[in-house]
Amino acid sequence: MKICMIGTGYVGLVSGACFADLGNSVYCVDKNNEKIDLLNNNQIPFFEPGLHELVSKNFSSNRLKFTTNLKLAVKNSDIIFICVGTPTSKKSRSADLRHVYNVAIEISKYINKFKIIVTKSTVPISTGDKIEKLISKKKRKRLFEVVSNPEFLREGEAIRDFRFPDRIVVGSNNKKVTRKIESLYDPIIKKGAKFFSTNRRGAELIKYASNAFLATKISYVNELANLCEKTGVSIEDVSLGIGLDKRIGSRFLRAGPAFGGSCFPKDTKAVTVTGDLFKTDLSIIKAVIKSNEKRRTLLIDRVKKILSNKIKNKKIAFLGVTFKPNTDDMRQSSSLSMIPFFLKRGAKITYYDPSGEKKEFSKFKNLSFCNNVSDVCKNVDLVIIHTEWEEFKALDFKKLYKKKKFKIYDMRNLYSVELMKKKGFDYYSIGR
Ligand SMILES: NC(=O)c1ccc[n+]([C@@H]2O[C@H](COP(=O)([O-])OP(=O)(O)OC[C@H]3O[C@@H](n4cnc5c(N)ncnc54)[C@H](O)[C@@H]3O)[C@@H](O)[C@H]2O)c1
Repeated sequence: MKICMIGTGYVGLVSGACFADLGNSVYCVDKNNEKIDLLNNNQIPFFEPGLHELVSKNFSSNRLKFTTNLKLAVKNSDIIFICVGTPTSKKSRSADLRHVYNVAIEISKYINKFKIIVTKSTVPISTGDKIEKLISKKKRKRLFEVVSNPEFLREGEAIRDFRFPDRIVVGSNNKKVTRKIESLYDPIIKKGAKFFSTNRRGAELIKYASNAFLATKISYVNELANLCEKTGVSIEDVSLGIGLDKRIGSRFLRAGPAFGGSCFPKDTKAVTVTGDLFKTDLSIIKAVIKSNEKRRTLLIDRVKKILSNKIKNKKIAFLGVTFKPNTDDMRQSSSLSMIPFFLKRGAKITYYDPSGEKKEFSKFKNLSFCNNVSDVCKNVDLVIIHTEWEEFKALDFKKLYKKKKFKIYDMRNLYSVELMKKKGFDYYSIGR
């Protein structure tokens, strides 16, 4: 099929490359010239395992093209996916839909024959209705159909998630169009993915409901971890014990820092705004947002306690700063609040992240990036394991101790409490 992806971020580029790999002809469009130049020069603008190989392969076979020319891409495509960002608005908790509506207006100018316009971006209930209205101002309704097809991939696992999703959700009020989108996904459905169709608003809500549910699971287990710390119970045993119940399931029950990333924080907020708009109090999700905010300060307090409330001139090393491993995405990572907090109180911080130095930290004094674990841990008072990258899972702390002993705060429970105690490390973790 001839398709185009508008927005070549984590979602648009990954799904565009995967669709091309299935044999489709795909245009990836972005308004960011730099991104498109990089892509046309065989470089990937962000870190996602396996993406470079996949893009290279399909680019050289001419199934995947990159352009800033939206007109060209729309004219040459039958299915148009909107994959632009929907961040939290600067003025409120709601989703900023500016990019989505701008793209809809742009598309409306270039519709030359029947097009299916699909929102893959996460958008609130009724956004599809508004897109339809916007395009109707320029083009007759029989020339297009607006469909919702939310994306569930996770950064770091994006290609696998796209190829082997649990389900594909399509929301449309037109059966013929639903069948067309189903046939686009046919190779993935044949490998076992469930295809689920509903109306457009239903699909829009399913995406928010899924993310809010997962965020709830994380906050739930994080709060239980607080209780475990005061009662001598291990949160890991509790997670295992409850997760064995199939009604609950074992995933998303790992205690750690406040949840971050480009989706959960913004999507939990946006869905509560939708609730308010339709006069429905989504009080559980509101409590999750609050609990997550509290967690940010709670872990900071814990660090203060570990350092006996003496932050000034303390040397702290961060292992990992991204919100999760296998991505370079810093959006809403808890390190973004922790690091400035300690710097402000006179700490000296070093950090190492396998995805490289972060522009978010470039302006801070007394904060430096190191290229490896041993450099980052040199002469520090406290090592914080912030992100569970593979390379942090089996560190030789004895070797790292060489000059000076340091405390370890493992926010991801990567090590055994017993073993660390046995080896004589001053070790702290979460909920254990
Ligand atoms: N990142 C994830 O893990 C993930 C997972 C599922 C769903 N989503 C949702 O998918 C959407 C996209 O997320 P993302 O992380 O890929 O975003 P992103 O910020 O990485 O990428 C968005 C891209 O859209 C481009 N863009 C903006 N306006 C444009 C325009 N008018 N024309 C062309 N390009 C334009 C930007 O330049 C940018 O490259 C969001 O709604 C997000 O909530 C994200």
